[in-house]
Amino acid sequence: MPNSFGKLFTITTWGESHGPGIGVVIDGCPPNLPITAAEIQVELDRRRPGQSDIVTPRKEADAVEILSGIHEGRTTGTPIALFVRNTDARPAAYDEMKDKFRPSHADFTYQAKYGLRDPRGGGRSSARETIGRVAAGAIAAKILASQGVELRAFITRIHDIAMPAEALAAVGIPALAEVEATPVRCPHPATAAAMIERIKSVRSQGDSVGGVIQCRVRGLPPGLGEPVFDRLEADLAKAMLSLPATKGFEIGSGFAGTLLRGSQHNDSFEMRDGRVRTTTNRSGGVQGGISNGEDLVFNVAFKPTATILQTQQTVDSQGRPAELMGKGRHDPCVVPRAVPIVEAMAALVLIDHWMRHAAQNQTFKF
Ligand SMILES: Cc1cc2nc3c(=O)[nH]c(=O)nc-3n(C[C@H](O)[C@H](O)[C@H](O)COP(=O)(O)O)c2cc1C
Repeated sequence: MPNSFGKLFTITTWGESHGPGIGVVIDGCPPNLPITAAEIQVELDRRRPGQSDIVTPRKEADAVEILSGIHEGRTTGTPIALFVRNTDARPAAYDEMKDKFRPSHADFTYQAKYGLRDPRGGGRSSARETIGRVAAGAIAAKILASQGVELRAFITRIHDIAMPAEALAAVGIPALAEVEATPVRCPHPATAAAMIERIKSVRSQGDSVGGVIQCRVRGLPPGLGEPVFDRLEADLAKAMLSLPATKGFEIGSGFAGTLLRGSQHNDSFEMRDGRVRTTTNRSGGVQGGISNGEDLVFNVAFKPTATILQTQQTVDSQGRPAELMGKGRHDPCVVPRAVPIVEAMAALVLIDHWMRHAAQNQTFKF
């Protein structure tokens, strides 16, 4: 099922950038969860284009329609189908790309794999596909919240501008309002201001930049995850690297942990408030592939947007050298809009693993 994700709480996304619309089918959602289109819309509005002056100006309301699985404001346990119409497609902007491959985009690989492609707005490789993930993630996040779990992603770095280490250490699980206070979704106002300036500056040069999103989750029970192939961090890594434009994933101490010795790196155990805790959290909340009840902390790296408004060297479908000047409406930096997408994928992984854990370990009592 190449367009599906999850084992018990599953999603299947469908649709292209310039087709009639984009959607998702969610199967396995527990019944009786109160959820409205307005609650799903809040998350879609955080993802949608045209929301600020540092993202793509494509004007889409991204209004969600509930087609099935929710009746009188509650999930029914049957498949939930959610639909968002594309209303501001401008396919003519992509005429030149019908025959020329955009550097570092998906044009060449789709052509090599399928022998044809929908070039309008990148077709299925467009980040519009993530609408379905965000809509489904809103439902998963509501279930997590009902269990007292706090989940928040935010930007820690744009290009070479990073939140100071002390601010990052002090931020905890930032409130939604702190993250949404600026269009760049970095909860440190001084750093956010510098990030916004950088994005505007590269955009004015027809260029792009990338950055890093950190996601933190507090309140997870110990026991979520599997010991071998579906380790919690492995499924999170897959979820994050399934997002367009991602180039890296690290959990806990990540790559920096390689600079420490075991004696410096180990998270000592202690009893605190009547339960087993660790004094530090370099594991990032997962040990042996299973959550240990500490905060889940991971980072996702996003590359600079591939489509830039500069002339670039490429080849056409006949292999002839060509030049390509990016057209259409693009994000000079995809990272601010990716924040709710990272949260959605994290929520989907966690609910799926929560249900799997409960099914195996809590269904029967012997
Ligand atoms: C929120 C978001 C917005 C994006 N917007 C653009 C865009 O405007 N232009 C573009 O070329 N790529 C954009 N991308 C990235 C492309 O979808 C992605 O680079 C492409 O599918 C190729 O996949 P890859 O970069 O993972 O190899 C965006 C990605 C995300 C997550």
